[in-house]
Amino acid sequence: MKIAKTVAELKTCLEAIGKDKTIGFVPTMGYLHDGHLALIKAAHAENDVTVLSIFVNPTQFAPGEDLDAYPRDFDRDSQLAKAAGTDLLFFPDPTEIYPTGASTFVEVDGEITKKLCGQSRPTHFKGVTTVVNILFNLIYPTRAYFGQKDAQQVAVIKKMVRDLHLPVQIIVCPIVREADGLAMSSRNVLLNPEERNQALVLSQSLASAGALYQAGEGSVKFLKDKIVSQISSMPLTCIDYVDILDFETLESIESIASPALAAVAVRFEKTRLLDNIILD
Ligand code: PAF
Repeated sequence: MKIAKTVAELKTCLEAIGKDKTIGFVPTMGYLHDGHLALIKAAHAENDVTVLSIFVNPTQFAPGEDLDAYPRDFDRDSQLAKAAGTDLLFFPDPTEIYPTGASTFVEVDGEITKKLCGQSRPTHFKGVTTVVNILFNLIYPTRAYFGQKDAQQVAVIKKMVRDLHLPVQIIVCPIVREADGLAMSSRNVLLNPEERNQALVLSQSLASAGALYQAGEGSVKFLKDKIVSQISSMPLTCIDYVDILDFETLESIESIASPALAAVAVRFEKTRLLDNIILD
């Protein structure tokens, strides 16, 4: 596995690979878990070359968010990345990605970036789409791999790719869970044991809603209320949002007629966790 820390090194590595190879690209912020490794393995299986980026992107964190506390361990990550099939690991400093400071942005406008995570993190997706664009422009991937856990991020990136005619295929891989159901996230290590225990209510409440939906319940209000009351029964939780939206457009719905996304964001002190389920 080659490691590039600068844009110049990345370009040299990509030139050596050549233009006739398919590139599968997995953008991450590191502290890799099995969810990331599943993306790397999917990219490895479907492409000639697998490129992984590890970059904790400052522009998607607002002042006061957990940019500094975000977990980092490059040595562990690079070993895991290599074992999962990464050919080229890009690990740049912020000055490589934003050489003149962050002054040019790519922003997906509209409701899709304003609801769910966009309500409490209004500048977050602007940072995500900007850095993903920069990385696409540097790497020119054939396919890029994202996890369904960040469902809104996936919807926003797909919209950006469509709107800007970007020549990349977006591949979405299912949520990978711990044995007890907790969705894998780099932030899980920030939970204390009691928070970790109570965090199970996220996947449990979504599974209950899924079971009710499968049993014939299609009212969004009813299902949302059920999720809210189950999560609220855990004293350490603070709900950021619970919503059920059209799966493709993320538009609000009153009852479920086509695939819908039930999504939750819950804070435990400073740690904010996401989870979701597709109701289909
Ligand atoms: O999902 C993430 O880890 C980040 O938002 C991404 C896509 C790597 C952009 O920084």
